[in-house]
Amino acid sequence: MALHFIDELTEELKDKVVIARFDFNVPLDKSDRTKITDTTRIDMALETIQYLLENGVKKLILMSHLGRPKGKVNEEFTLEPVATYLAEKLREDVVLTESCLDRGIRTLLNLNESKVILLQNLRFHPEEEAGSSEFAKALASYADIYVNDAFGVAHRKHASAYTINAYFKNKAYGGFLLKKEIQALSKIVESPKSPFVAIVGGAKVSDKIKIIERLIINVDHLIIGGAMAYPFLVARGHEVGNSLCSQSDVALAKRILMGSGKNKVVLPVDHVVSSEFGGKPEACDNVEIDGDKMGLDIGPKTIALYTEKLAGAATVLWNGPMGLFENEDYAAGTMAIAKTLSEMESAFTLVGGGDSVSAVRKSGLFDKMSHVSTGGGASLEFIEEGSLPGIQALKFGVDLN
Ligand code: 3PG
Ligand code: MG
Repeated sequence: MALHFIDELTEELKDKVVIARFDFNVPLDKSDRTKITDTTRIDMALETIQYLLENGVKKLILMSHLGRPKGKVNEEFTLEPVATYLAEKLREDVVLTESCLDRGIRTLLNLNESKVILLQNLRFHPEEEAGSSEFAKALASYADIYVNDAFGVAHRKHASAYTINAYFKNKAYGGFLLKKEIQALSKIVESPKSPFVAIVGGAKVSDKIKIIERLIINVDHLIIGGAMAYPFLVARGHEVGNSLCSQSDVALAKRILMGSGKNKVVLPVDHVVSSEFGGKPEACDNVEIDGDKMGLDIGPKTIALYTEKLAGAATVLWNGPMGLFENEDYAAGTMAIAKTLSEMESAFTLVGGGDSVSAVRKSGLFDKMSHVSTGGGASLEFIEEGSLPGIQALKFGVDLN
């Protein structure tokens, strides 16, 4: 069975009710939750929404979650800011329902006005994350056709992104964003052009162990940065002072460094350190870190080393920052990686994972990357597993028996 995408549909959309799942889980301003601080995920969904509207659907029902309200109604997680932003972008009214099971939805479907309906946060219902078939069936009962463009939740077996496929046999389609994500990530998973260099950063080895073990088979170099570099350095017998470093992560790092890919691992040779987390930065131009200091970014020699390893690469995957980049004192390493990648014009550069994506956005170099994934956990899992439950369900359907 093949995966079908909405570009196969034109006439078939006319006068139909379409229900479409997106990942509008966008960050909101901490002090003013009506403000969206990064609209990328919504912006990247617009192509699908516009396509459906242009092809004459009768009603378009949009669905998403926002945050983790844990199955309870919580105004903090209302989709209201998303509805407002969408209305502005689409120049259409967007009606936000009170709940996903709101009786008024049926009435709305029969009214001539208000073509675009946004269901309130799916995760206000505990059934969503439980993957409930009853809930999925209720959602499905509103529409003729199902569209999934929510790559960011494709790793979850949730009702609106997974189970619902059971009720749309031969009527379930992927959206444009999902297609783009699959195409880009497949290039990394299937046959990455060599030389292939992966840069993995972030806080914990345990979070990334699976992806490292998967990548190390195919890469020419595996560059490690961020706090997860410290357990690797300890595993190689270095001192890391007070740097973040758990024993269990050291054990995992040892496992990698004993494997056949050990010579591919590239680690920091100098650091930016401080006496406290986020405190005054100091240079440490040696691999060893003093007992009372903690490493918070890679140093200039390391930047030069990583740049050298990246030179001439045909494929680059970047997941996870090189340091505490949210703090300008410790952003140089991460920004240098972003800049190097942005200048590699003939390489296929893919950035995935929440933090590195925000770093790229902060650097202003977003458009210079070949692909920036909208998925955090989803992009990692795609690389580890080669596909995701939400994508498989779209392709093969879901059998509830
Ligand atoms: C994300 O931001 O990772 C996706 O929207 C999925 O959300 P979740 O991690 O809370 O399931
Ligand atoms: Mg997540």
